[in-house]
Amino acid sequence: MAQALLKIAHQQQALPHEKHRAKVLAVQGLGKAYGTQARVLQDINFDLHAGELVAVIGRSGAGKSTLLHVLNGTLPASEGAVLHFNEDGKQQNIVELNTRQMRQWRSDCGMIFQDFCLVPRLDVLTNVLLGRLSQTSTLKSFFKIFTDEDRARAIGLLEWLNMLPQALQRAENLSGGQMQRVAICRALMQNPKILLADEPVASLDPKNTRRIMDVLRQVSGNGISVMVNLHSVELVKEYCTRAIGVAKGRIVFDGHPSELTDDHLHLLYGDENSQLNDPHHA
Ligand SMILES: Nc1ncnc2c1ncn2[C@@H]1O[C@H](COP(=O)(O)OP(=O)(O)OP(=O)(O)O)[C@@H](O)[C@H]1O
Ligand SMILES: [Mg+2]
Repeated sequence: MAQALLKIAHQQQALPHEKHRAKVLAVQGLGKAYGTQARVLQDINFDLHAGELVAVIGRSGAGKSTLLHVLNGTLPASEGAVLHFNEDGKQQNIVELNTRQMRQWRSDCGMIFQDFCLVPRLDVLTNVLLGRLSQTSTLKSFFKIFTDEDRARAIGLLEWLNMLPQALQRAENLSGGQMQRVAICRALMQNPKILLADEPVASLDPKNTRRIMDVLRQVSGNGISVMVNLHSVELVKEYCTRAIGVAKGRIVFDGHPSELTDDHLHLLYGDENSQLNDPHHA
């Protein structure tokens, strides 16, 4: 059975191929306040294109995680628009979606949360398969009924990230780097158009850091727009096609990482600047 599934997995495309650089998202005048507190994001404007690998950088508390959560819809925006452009030319504003539309959006916009959000007592394979649930009927979701095709794809993804030997192991028994890879597999299982990753290499060793960054590069190379919160400017310069710098809730830099000057870094990090050449600073 496993052999047969693996064969199907090899026959399948691991990821969709969309080499064009179409605009997938336009963020316009986005603002966010938690409750009645002051805004933590203000006047955020940028477009996101297929295949970009965009780093979101800035000091702790700048608003990076909040931005990813608002884009994903796990947090409501306070003002502004997040326009999503479908392949059929239609656009929808993420901040105005109803519950059913939001479910579809979350399936198009995969998110890897900083604490992975795996189900600890379930095995790795089932955790990855859970990524399919947003596209499965409620009844099938309830009984966790997955097709052979779903299983083949999950196995293919796990194999791609060298996690196949752990497929039947409980998620709670994995190392941090292994959990991170399972979380990526689960997000990719959704076939997302956009992948958001909140500090995916925080607290990983150098080998796993590179492994995850290599994976994100491959994912973006396959036409998915990837936005990733990172604390290491060195990694941003090595891997990312674009950096968006956030300070006190506003964008203060948006360009190619090679254009980041010491002045930009000072604006973004102030005196913390000296820590930034350590790629594993979390
Ligand atoms: N649930 C919340 N309720 C109230 N304020 C919050 C909440 N979550 C975050 N904040 C505040 O919003 C601001 C931005 O937080 P956010 O987590 O987005 O920052 P960050 O850039 O991701 O920081 P870090 O690098 O430490 O993860 C901070 O001032 C934080 O205290
Ligand atoms: Mg954060």
